[in-house]
Amino acid sequence: MTTLPVVMAETPSVQQKSEALLPVYKRFPIEIVRGAGTRLFGADGRSYLDFTSGIGVNALGYADAGIAEAARGALESGVLHTSNLFHTAPGQALAEALVARSFASSVFFCNSGAEANEGAFKFVRRWGRDIGGGDKHEIIALRGGFHGRLFATLAATDRPQYRAPFRPLAGGISIAERDLGELARMMDRRTVAAVIVEPVQGEGGVRVLEPAFLSGLRELTRERNVALIFDEVQCGLGRTGWLFAYERTDVVPDVVTLAKPLAGGLPMGAILVTPEIAASVQPGDHGSTFGGGPFVATVAKHVFDRLSDPALLARVRENGAWLGEQLRALAARREEVRAVRGVGYLWGIDVTRPAGEIVACAREAGLLILTAGDYTLRLLPPLITTREELAQGVEQIERALS
Ligand SMILES: Cc1ncc(COP(=O)(O)O)c(C=O)c1O
Repeated sequence: MTTLPVVMAETPSVQQKSEALLPVYKRFPIEIVRGAGTRLFGADGRSYLDFTSGIGVNALGYADAGIAEAARGALESGVLHTSNLFHTAPGQALAEALVARSFASSVFFCNSGAEANEGAFKFVRRWGRDIGGGDKHEIIALRGGFHGRLFATLAATDRPQYRAPFRPLAGGISIAERDLGELARMMDRRTVAAVIVEPVQGEGGVRVLEPAFLSGLRELTRERNVALIFDEVQCGLGRTGWLFAYERTDVVPDVVTLAKPLAGGLPMGAILVTPEIAASVQPGDHGSTFGGGPFVATVAKHVFDRLSDPALLARVRENGAWLGEQLRALAARREEVRAVRGVGYLWGIDVTRPAGEIVACAREAGLLILTAGDYTLRLLPPLITTREELAQGVEQIERALS
């Protein structure tokens, strides 16, 4: 028997493998092959503590048995998808659960955060035109806000470098400073239909909008008959320690948009609206082929029930407050940390060195974190992360800083 020489197959680099994909992402140089709980595993065999949650998606972590069981059950029905021309029970059950647990009377399902916000813009314009005699259509967004990458959501997103190459963006959308005086000046009751804000701005540097600012905005919008949209795509569904971020404040919005964690990693968005806005929406006004399909809705109902658990929410509030204390202590010890902001399991750390460099050092130390701007680190741990794991993450961040 002849032995053939062993030829090692040339392993293509991660960069070579991704050449077929349009290069819109600056990807980290690791290939993720497996996940379990709060940990991700690379093709190189390394294990990482994950404080990114797929940018706020994997609230229940990885390889969750309940999600797998819900997905298996939905698969076995044989109807991964049908169209919205038919009634299907899972979407109805999920909508009823969202309504029962919130201010809303009705829900529209779509497939992403940007789609949820685009749909919300349509619904508030529909309502505005109904009540405002034709001209009430403008939408005001805030400095530092991020609402998505489609034409209308990009017009509401305060990132010049994301916007410039794609002009003209959708019209009738402007950006205001986070200042009630300026908002009052811009908010003409005849032309403005809605204001959209993230109660905690995620991409824009993790800025928790002050409850007093949000109540002032609620008063102003009520007085001018302008709809208030809360974009809770990143900060909603338990991330702040409250199921909906608006529950942290005494402000009840007219519209809430959700996405990221809603279906446990499957693509889904939702728009929650008041009865007044729902009353303006007519058959044919909007639609989505995939929105609220039975497979994704079954999984989302399971995730929503789990994220509604008061014990889980209390843990996020308590551990989140504790994490804030640890990060403030870190800021006091390390001159590289300039400021710390956040709530629940969403924290930003302003640093003196480029944030990307520290993210790379943290990755080397076995911790995955994100940036929110050039000099801000962002932490989005899964909501199942224990206090011990949070402590481990803070230690790894400190090592990455030095
Ligand atoms: C607050 C907020 N709104 C909207 C979006 C857009 O969501 P998607 O990427 O699912 O379109 C994001 C994404 O990061 C977000 O953070």
